[in-house]
Amino acid sequence: MNDILGDWKRTHYCGHLNAEHIGREVCLMGWVQRRRDHGGLIFIDLRDREGIVQLALDPDRDPEAHQKADRVRGEFVVAIKGEVSRRPDGTLNPKMKTGEVEIEVRELRILNSAKTPPFMIDEFSEVAENTRLKYRYLDLRRPALQRTLMLRHQVTRIVRDYFSGEGFLELETPFLTKSTPEGARDYLVPSRVNQGTFYALPQSPQLFKQILMVSGFDRYMQIVKCFRDEDLRADRQPEFTQIDCEMSFVDRDEVLSVMEAMIARVFREAIGVEVPLPMPRMTYAEAVGRFGVDNPDLRFAMELVDISEIVSNSGFKVFSDAVQGGGLVKAMNIKGGATLSRKDLDDLGEFVKIYGAKGLAWVKVNADGWQSPIIKFFSADEVAGIAQALSAEVGDLLVFVADTFRIVNDALGRLRGHLGHKLGLIDKGAYKFVWVTDFPLLEWDGETRRHVAVHHPFTAPMDEDVTLLDTDPGKARAKAYDLVLNGSEIGGGSIRIHDRAVQSKMFELMGIGDEEASIKFGFLLEALEFGAPPHGGIAFGLDRLTMILADTDSIRDVIAFPKTQKATCLMSEAPGEVDDKQLRELGIKLVTRPK
Ligand code: AMO
Ligand code: AMP
Repeated sequence: MNDILGDWKRTHYCGHLNAEHIGREVCLMGWVQRRRDHGGLIFIDLRDREGIVQLALDPDRDPEAHQKADRVRGEFVVAIKGEVSRRPDGTLNPKMKTGEVEIEVRELRILNSAKTPPFMIDEFSEVAENTRLKYRYLDLRRPALQRTLMLRHQVTRIVRDYFSGEGFLELETPFLTKSTPEGARDYLVPSRVNQGTFYALPQSPQLFKQILMVSGFDRYMQIVKCFRDEDLRADRQPEFTQIDCEMSFVDRDEVLSVMEAMIARVFREAIGVEVPLPMPRMTYAEAVGRFGVDNPDLRFAMELVDISEIVSNSGFKVFSDAVQGGGLVKAMNIKGGATLSRKDLDDLGEFVKIYGAKGLAWVKVNADGWQSPIIKFFSADEVAGIAQALSAEVGDLLVFVADTFRIVNDALGRLRGHLGHKLGLIDKGAYKFVWVTDFPLLEWDGETRRHVAVHHPFTAPMDEDVTLLDTDPGKARAKAYDLVLNGSEIGGGSIRIHDRAVQSKMFELMGIGDEEASIKFGFLLEALEFGAPPHGGIAFGLDRLTMILADTDSIRDVIAFPKTQKATCLMSEAPGEVDDKQLRELGIKLVTRPK
């Protein structure tokens, strides 16, 4: 038995107490948020994961407890026994969940003291992120983070319930394994017993989940860590969690309907939002055509318009040359954007340059006509054509990019996303889902001069495009799909190749020889020859999904112990150096020593 607790047992969470408990004896344990001395009376705000309740200590009622309370400071850990009472008239706090009551404390025990924390544990204190990450255990005491991590727990619970009900088995796959090609660099783990060889931490369980289908498990799911050594962004972490799924004997439509019902259930049970089913679908070609990107944010309009035909012979050479050179010109109507300043326009021009555009041409639609540095090059027909194509009205700003297909879509697509936030076009509180389908199977990599898989090399081509693999592989589409929510790719998957011959063809197109294929994933290829059922699946990014449910912009807010942009942990100081003995055992010699 723990001496310090004696026979005390906690009866309630602080945050759960309300008027219904008035008159009850309770025992609470938690952290001191704040202590206030009101000339005799001491008030303590006691906090646990469920919330805060006010303790009242009266020197006349219980001098001993009052005396101890006098020694208590912020973040001390205390236990109390007392009675729930209604707060005196005029002291009710409607902003607090527990604001109608306070606890008349009879006994108080100090369970532990605490140093003065480097920042206040409350919702409002603005603290540098590095400090928060260094003292993550204190940061995690803050109500906002406690709420998001509890939400994350709810999400995984609902997901497991759902899949279990649908006959999925949660099976584990190894972390010490071989490289799985998902497009990032691997994290490697040196082997001690097999010196000179390395495990790779999985970028996903892709190979193993397909093998589980060959083994007949039929429906698999796993909430699983994945490891990718890639450039980090606001919605990426080097280790992140997937809701990973695979199904046998299914076509694309069946996968999508099982998965969207799972997502709808998560939204209903976790945040009380009804998601209309079936979710809308859009081909990759349509998504890129209308929005410039394969992860369109459908919470606002502002679509891209192809005006190539209108300006193919324009006097503005930038436009006509682009079209005649096989590229295109696209435009976007920024409603009400004519009020943007010259500086704003220059900033937008700089923004599109990040994506390879050479410039951003613009037109302000003013009451007295068009204002633009390039207006002089356009014929009256062109002006009329553009105005009509873009439904231009007085007050609008029209912007244009002329270049190759890829640059035009990328630049305008990203600009659209950027402006959606900057100009407040986004309907906050809306959840706009879309399945993006029919992705290209392969894309040409100019650097290595070979095709690379757009999704991964095990993704099946669309049936009607199989013959294109021999004639025009770049045109073949894949049975691949992404689930996009509010412009964020929250999941991606595909129907797989279960035919060994098609798989060989894919490798050939990707310039992966038999030997390389057999070294890298020979075990999967061999398994495919022993009766592989038709199968397909998907993986969702649990962190990204939770970010949206919790309405936060930072992936670090939904992970208990996240890494920085430089893939370090400021609390544990990982990665760290190892001693020479460890290196010798591994047969490893460092070329350079860390500074
Ligand atoms: P994919 O690579 O598309 O597919 O990954 C699936 C989902 O995982 C999330 N995600 C990430 N989240 C946080 N940080 C990262 N670094 C990160 N990388 C990916 C995204 C993404 O949609 N094996 C395939 C799935 C399949 O085909 O079944 C795969 O891993 O939300
Ligand atoms: P210039 O002829 O280079 O002075 O450019 C005139 C205007 O066209 C400037 O506003 C440029 O930003 C813009 N511009 C230049 N190149 C492109 C392009 N490829 N696409 C769209 N606008 C461009």
